[in-house]
Amino acid sequence: MSSLNYGDKVILVDEKKKSRHNTVLKEGIRFSTQYGFIEHEDILKAGDGGVVKASKGMKYRVYSPSYIDYVMGIKRRAQIIYPKDTAVMLMWGDIHPGLDILEAGIGQGALSIALLRALGGQGTLTSYEVRDDFAEQAQGFIRDYLGETPNHSVEVRSIYDGIDGQYDRIMLDLPEPWHVIPHSKEGLKVGGTLIVYLPTILQVKSCVDAMEESGLYDDIETFEFIKRPWKVEGRSVRPEMWTFNHSAFIISAKRVGSFTEPVNEVEEKPSETGADEEE
Ligand SMILES: C[S@@+](CC[C@H](N)C(=O)[O-])C[C@H]1O[C@@H](n2cnc3c(N)ncnc32)[C@H](O)[C@@H]1O
Repeated sequence: MSSLNYGDKVILVDEKKKSRHNTVLKEGIRFSTQYGFIEHEDILKAGDGGVVKASKGMKYRVYSPSYIDYVMGIKRRAQIIYPKDTAVMLMWGDIHPGLDILEAGIGQGALSIALLRALGGQGTLTSYEVRDDFAEQAQGFIRDYLGETPNHSVEVRSIYDGIDGQYDRIMLDLPEPWHVIPHSKEGLKVGGTLIVYLPTILQVKSCVDAMEESGLYDDIETFEFIKRPWKVEGRSVRPEMWTFNHSAFIISAKRVGSFTEPVNEVEEKPSETGADEEE
């Protein structure tokens, strides 16, 4: 059983799976449900995955909210990146501790939370966001879920106007990412990775065209990630009838140096090459 502490968020789900409550554990407090109350002390004793009984007998399972529970529970004013896509973006972006990452825009901060967790306190995340209300709200969600994150800075500005500094990764979730491609020449280190999240294929086409024309990128991959849930109940084992189908496309690409600008000069001797091959 994983232990809980006062101050932790918990979710309580009744044994019939009809009600679900969120609370934060506090010493000396009781939580009221339609089936009576539960002492916070007993929730703490049950721990993550454990079971407590309310005063009128209903049993509740205790859960510590996961990343998915948390971000899917955020009351949304901007569309978030769905966790199934976030998972893929972290892998294709090769996100690991020690990187300097730039993201735009911050939206609700769902991707920021995932990036900060993957950095594990090493490296930095900078978020550009045009709307100051979104910037402020997202920072509230990030603080609420992760606590203080001194390696995160938020700048209220448009990334279309340029990038200050140089980053190992750039993650874009905004409507017209092609405006960022010229700025990524200086803003993304050679060897770095660009990840773009886009809901429509026309946006993808404009972005990939801009990337190709810039000559700054190689290994440009466009894909969508489809999660197909199955029903497994008795003899009924089949894909679910109704599923959430499309979220967005992901583009990943590597920032590369130009073939017209190699780092060294050599005296080219074509005949010697031929001689080597004959030996
Ligand atoms: C779909 S939301 C991002 C959601 C975020 N990735 C998340 O997971 O919560 C798009 C955000 O981009 C911001 N945005 C749009 N254009 C921008 C720009 N030029 N520079 C910075 N942010 C921008 C919007 O204000 C909005 O907050």
